[in-house]
Amino acid sequence: MEFDTVIHGGTIVTPQESWVGDIGIRAGRIAALAERIPGGDRRIDASGRLVLPGGIEAHAHIAQESSAGLMTADDYYSGSVSAAFGGNSSFIPFAAQQRGQSVDDVIATYDGRAAPNSVLDYSYHLIISDPRPEVLSDELPRAFARGITSFKVFMTYDLMNLGDRGMLDILAVARQHGALTMVHAENNDMIKWMNARLAAAGLTAPKYHAISRPAIAEAEAINRAIALARLVGAGLFIVHVSTPEGAELVARARAEGLPVHAETCPQYLALTRADLDRPGMEGAKYICSPPLRDEATQGALWRHARTGTFDSVSSDHAPYRFDETGKFAKGADAPYPAIANGMPGIAARLPYLFSEGVVAGRITLGQFVALSSANAARVFGMDRKGAILPGWDADIAIWDPEETRTVTAADQHDAMDYTPFEGMRLTGWPVHVLNRGETIVEGGALKAARGRGRFVARQPYRIGPQAPTVPELDPAQNFGADIWP
Ligand code: URP
Ligand code: ZN
Ligand code: ZN
Ligand code: ZN
Repeated sequence: MEFDTVIHGGTIVTPQESWVGDIGIRAGRIAALAERIPGGDRRIDASGRLVLPGGIEAHAHIAQESSAGLMTADDYYSGSVSAAFGGNSSFIPFAAQQRGQSVDDVIATYDGRAAPNSVLDYSYHLIISDPRPEVLSDELPRAFARGITSFKVFMTYDLMNLGDRGMLDILAVARQHGALTMVHAENNDMIKWMNARLAAAGLTAPKYHAISRPAIAEAEAINRAIALARLVGAGLFIVHVSTPEGAELVARARAEGLPVHAETCPQYLALTRADLDRPGMEGAKYICSPPLRDEATQGALWRHARTGTFDSVSSDHAPYRFDETGKFAKGADAPYPAIANGMPGIAARLPYLFSEGVVAGRITLGQFVALSSANAARVFGMDRKGAILPGWDADIAIWDPEETRTVTAADQHDAMDYTPFEGMRLTGWPVHVLNRGETIVEGGALKAARGRGRFVARQPYRIGPQAPTVPELDPAQNFGADIWP
């Protein structure tokens, strides 16, 4: 049995175990795992290194217009290159519908942005902002049939949020087809009310962004989203959970057996709202939604990462430069509601999670693999990725667990002019990243050709525990029945 590549002598890590051994790769797939595999056209020495499933970045805004129409700094080339340097072998950015646009049009647009440019395998989560009847009846099922099996909705932003009624419609289509609905959960009216009061008081500096989007706005929306999903009997994925209150609601739903999933992001673990109060307009770099919180929140979110409340830790890479093309598109001293929301982090996500998680003793190596790739592969239906097993894609990141480096903007390999993680000393870095057996990044150099990445058609959402409908609330089961005592 001949192999194209043999990775030998590394510590191979899965969520369940670690062992020292070799991986034989043929035609882009993992073909053999053994203590010792001789031969191979190419041999990669991984002794003293960790051999992990390549990261899967499940939350990134790439070549995407914001809710206010502003294009991200990263396109599918720079975005995928940055992800690769950060230890990722694939990613799932968003394909966002603008109101009035057909879903078929959205997908064609993003195919045009991704296919010629991505160095990594990719898929999309479809953002729905306009669930017209033909979107629900025809366009979403067509997208689903193409392997786009997750739909994202917003409960905030005037141009994006669907209202409860629209969310129910999406959840129902998702349940019918086996798609997973992702939700940005913040109460839009609470935020607009806070914005109006702050504006009336003349409080518009970046730090008021955090005041305007309080924890209760997230908790209320998460609670409501879970209730809506429960009514429909549909799965739900809460993106970027930033509060202990929100995480508790997720943990409680999971304990009840509901198919509720969630992620948090490095910025909520690493930074606080004090960063929004940096001198001048520096705080604009740290404006993201939901906003940064406090140190007690950081501890609580780490605990939830450790105890399984979160399926993944994703970057929410939303790159807007610290200049007039990005954060200051509406003026150099724009009030906080006019400053682009989001920060970059697709390259820093895994080094941060490794160093502050594994090296600092907050999570195990197995949990790192679960949070960085294995769970995302399962939840989002990438059935050949996120594991080191025979037959799986050879998506592998080889890590040096001992190297210590300082994070700088220049090392992110993105199109940005800052990183919110600037100056952090992190231990443990990816040194060699493969996607389908091909080396993408090695020794600090890019080895991949533009456009080599392939679209990944994903499987339906199917992991348990499966959608228990609340019987007395299920119109299909109870139509015409006397459900009132
Ligand atoms: O602030 C953020 N996260 N910007 C990106 C858009 C979104 O809310 O997902
Ligand atoms: Zn060997
Ligand atoms: Zn969001
Ligand atoms: Zn986002």
